[in-house]
Amino acid sequence: MNPKYLDHFGFRAKPFTKEVADHELWIPPTKQSLVDAICEAVAEHDSVLLTGEPGVGKTCVLRAVRARVPDEGCRLTYCHNATLGRRDFYRQLCHALGLSPSATAAALFYAVSTHVEELAKERLHPVFLLDEAHILHQDTLDHLHILLNYEWDSRALLSLVLVGLRSWRTGSRSGETARSTSASTAASASTR
Ligand SMILES: Nc1ncnc2c1ncn2[C@@H]1O[C@H](COP(=O)(O)OP(=O)(O)OP(=O)(O)O)[C@@H](O)[C@H]1O
Ligand SMILES: [Mg+2]
Repeated sequence: MNPKYLDHFGFRAKPFTKEVADHELWIPPTKQSLVDAICEAVAEHDSVLLTGEPGVGKTCVLRAVRARVPDEGCRLTYCHNATLGRRDFYRQLCHALGLSPSATAAALFYAVSTHVEELAKERLHPVFLLDEAHILHQDTLDHLHILLNYEWDSRALLSLVLVGLRSWRTGSRSGETARSTSASTAASASTR
């Protein structure tokens, strides 16, 4: 039986469920500007840091981005299992990219970075969306700028979108929206 509040408010279905379709997400202007900023950053091959309080809608913003980013030029890969050490992180990335995971850390890294270079040859821009990034191991985080280094750090072949809790954020001002143009620059946006 439908809960009474559905009839009371004239709703057709439960408004707050994780099963809301991408195209039916509620995107008020504050969220729209985040979606626009992330799409623009990805289009320009930049990377993004998105932080916010628990449950504020960070992952839904990613889903709204997924609905907006064109398939032709981009390859989005979503990873949410962040509780992994560096080698298992790259192993998981291999799985998500459809690559067969190798045994050693070096071979895993090589497989992922070669895949990124091959996509670039096909004029496809890979975007790795790392959700729950606040629980990434420090050595994995430390390694991400190496993952962004192609051709002597002269090519922006990959975008990373890191999403995590606001409490994790350090070194950038709350509410600031910015993005990176190089592997080592912090990029940030904030959900309210
Ligand atoms: N734009 C939206 N439109 C409709 N429902 C939404 C939207 N944003 C969030 N919600 C609702 O709030 C719930 C939590 O949103 P979401 O999972 O995106 O938050 P989060 O910030 O990623 O949470 P966490 O910090 O736990 O990862 C969703 O399952 C959905 O029910
Ligand atoms: Mg989330």
